[in-house]
Amino acid sequence: MNKMQLLYEGKAKKVYLTDNKDRVIQEFKDDATAFNNKKKGTISNKGIVNNAISCKLFTYLAENGVPTHFVEKLSDRGMLCKYLDIIMVEVVVRNIAAGSLVKRYGFQEATVLEEPIVELYLKDDDLDDPLMNESHAVALGLATYDELDFMKEQARKINTHLKTFFAARKLNLVDFKLEFGRYNGEVLLGDEISPDTCRFWDLDTGEKMDKDRFRFDLGGVEDAYTEVQHRVLDRE
Ligand code: TMP
Ligand code: ASP
Repeated sequence: MNKMQLLYEGKAKKVYLTDNKDRVIQEFKDDATAFNNKKKGTISNKGIVNNAISCKLFTYLAENGVPTHFVEKLSDRGMLCKYLDIIMVEVVVRNIAAGSLVKRYGFQEATVLEEPIVELYLKDDDLDDPLMNESHAVALGLATYDELDFMKEQARKINTHLKTFFAARKLNLVDFKLEFGRYNGEVLLGDEISPDTCRFWDLDTGEKMDKDRFRFDLGGVEDAYTEVQHRVLDRE
């Protein structure tokens, strides 16, 4: 598989075309942003860590019947993926109150939700990724109601699988963000699943082990990412 021209550069990844029109290569960067680009920095080795974690999680989800864009891990930072037509809707699943749920609705942080909350956001940094519902997404021409139903159903299944996976590694899966895309008439899970896109709290101590350490200058960012990588990859 030969890497060709850069298709797109995002905040945390570059995406390259390949000599196969149905495949792209995602390359994970060390750049970190928060609050939709308002805070910028780097987290050393983040790209390597997030690629390793994402490859493992996509493989695990595929083994559990979740269709994803993942094809194979190519290198430290490179992941071969199916070339998706990305749906510009971010799906967030929450098990425990944190982040914008606390700010927006006044939940006490760390409240365990009786059932998971699934939210949709418009993927648009210039608009600050606003919360939206299905009618907004359909009115904007981003997806059909059937696609949105499928994405939410997949998100709930993924949550069940990931909660089990992380609990076995002494991590509480607080919340996470997913992206989906179309491929040959199917909707597949895309993007990445990593400490950039999830909140993980240590099951015993409650310590934050994710990008919140960078967002809120809590220190120990690299160590937290590396620890998540060890727990994800070294514990079977
Ligand atoms: P939030 O509490 O800030 O809405 O974030 C919910 C989850 O989604 C959290 O795990 C971080 C993740 N997330 C992203 O991956 N990208 C984003 O742009 C935002 C806002 C959140
Ligand atoms: N992913 C968004 C950004 O990079 C928001 C966040 O993760 O806080 O700005």
